[in-house]
Amino acid sequence: MQRLILPLPGNEAFAARLAAACGGEAGRIETRRFPDGETYLRLQADPAGREVDLVCTLARPDPQFLALVFAADAARELGATRVNLVAPYLAYMRQDMRFHAGECISSLSFARLLSSTFDRLLTVDPHLHRHATLSALYTIPTATLQAAPLLADWIAANVDAPLVVGPDEESEQWAGAIAARIHAPHVVLRKTRLGDRSVDIELPDLTAWRDRTPVLVDDIASSGRTLAVAARKLAAQGLRTPECVVVHALFADGAWDELAPLFARIASTDAVPHPSNRIALAPLLADALVRGLGD
Ligand code: R5P
Repeated sequence: MQRLILPLPGNEAFAARLAAACGGEAGRIETRRFPDGETYLRLQADPAGREVDLVCTLARPDPQFLALVFAADAARELGATRVNLVAPYLAYMRQDMRFHAGECISSLSFARLLSSTFDRLLTVDPHLHRHATLSALYTIPTATLQAAPLLADWIAANVDAPLVVGPDEESEQWAGAIAARIHAPHVVLRKTRLGDRSVDIELPDLTAWRDRTPVLVDDIASSGRTLAVAARKLAAQGLRTPECVVVHALFADGAWDELAPLFARIASTDAVPHPSNRIALAPLLADALVRGLGD
């Protein structure tokens, strides 16, 4: 039976592309608020006897979370054979330890909640830093896809003589893989995070690369401080105006307005809907769904 792909509000366009790419049926979920602010939710498709993929990118997870749980429970109660979460962006991956006494480890709590709600999880480039794989956090089978080859192909097709630049040590995994795929040089900068919206970045002497176009690559643009500080430091060394390619375009308040003037272009995948989206992920995710999640 055709799989049923159900988007949570705001994910309809991505779900339609995904359904078209994997031959699934795109259904609908109706939601509204009761007068007291509670969530009403109704599946507008019959999940009985079918594998159901709930599509919800988790860029703004807190207001979406209950609807996601209600939809998963409804699909299961109405006879879905399996209920998967397709989250092109997976939230709550960065607070993965107790940095200060008394803090919650939100990545663990969030993983526990999702693991008790879904049978499978499919995502793209989760921010794995201190944990090597999602299985260190999640108890359900997970499939993790990499966008690096797509980022690399976009750079190769659009940027003249790229120098791939990772803004911090964590970005080595993307910067190195992207550079290797397109036979470009790469450098990785050194970042110190001073606060939620404050970073310092050290650059080596890059003046030998003045005949190249720096392309900053990162998994997440959130406050935008990492990319902004890196771009300004590249400019201070007299390099060409940089380009920027990111996987998850979160762009929290004011970030886009600060970043846009600093780059020739900013391109992102459509993991999080944003005007900078240039790189489509649906074919990559559709392929994973067709191959089976964790089977
Ligand atoms: C973490 O270190 C990530 O790879 C990103 O560099 C980081 O999340 C970006 O955050 P922001 O845009 O707030 O500097």
